[in-house]
Amino acid sequence: MSQRDKPADPKPYYEAHVFCCTNRRPAGHPRGCCAEKGGEALRDHMKSRAKALGLKNVRINNAGCLDRCELGPTLVIYPEGVWYTVPTKEDIDEVLETHLVKGGRVERLMLQPNEKLPSDRKVPTTVG
Ligand code: FES
Repeated sequence: MSQRDKPADPKPYYEAHVFCCTNRRPAGHPRGCCAEKGGEALRDHMKSRAKALGLKNVRINNAGCLDRCELGPTLVIYPEGVWYTVPTKEDIDEVLETHLVKGGRVERLMLQPNEKLPSDRKVPTTVG
């Protein structure tokens, strides 16, 4: 089948589908893991806050390792494919409010495709 013959994709089932890494590795693993950085509690917080906000057609799921462990706790939101590092519940709240409610982006928490390690992060600074 050529690209030309490819049928149109159906529209996404969910308006937003969030995958929160909750992977756990043995203590001392060189890459660490999102669970040891609070990934499970952050996922639980995101689910309960999304429900309290009344977000419709938004699904928040557990994910196994997303392979960006050093930058965790990580989550990714589809269909946009925007990645975030979310170390705190307040960060989760900001992603919920800014990205999922208002359709914006939380730039300071976004992971870029070329980021592999925390040292690659160029966190935007506030000019003021
Ligand atoms: S353990 Fe979360 S990205 Fe690998």
